Amino acid sequence: MAKVIVGKTSDIPEGKMTHITAGGKEILVANVNGRYYATGNICTHAGAELHDGELNDKELTCPWHGSRWDITTGNLIWFPQKLQSLGSYKITVEGDTIYVEA
Ligand code: FES
Repeated sequence: MAKVIVGKTSDIPEGKMTHITAGGKEILVANVNGRYYATGNICTHAGAELHDGELNDKELTCPWHGSRWDITTGNLIWFPQKLQSLGSYKITVEGDTIYVEA
């Protein structure tokens, strides 16, 4: 598992998201009320890139079919069928730099 730079804290204001590829994984990083969270960026329903979705507080809505995810855990909040978790990654902030372990 490698520690990879996501960017500067100023790059991701509150309520915003970004995405990176690290360790061969597509990872979404979001700022929820000043805290950073990282989950898988690919919807486990049909493969949408979730950074194109809508973030409201900790709830992320998939842009394709509207599944809703808890960005703080990567777990599904709502969808008509059961979907696999997005998974989550450890985030650390050192100074003004955000890192993810992937
Ligand atoms: S691809 Fe996300 S809900 Fe279908």
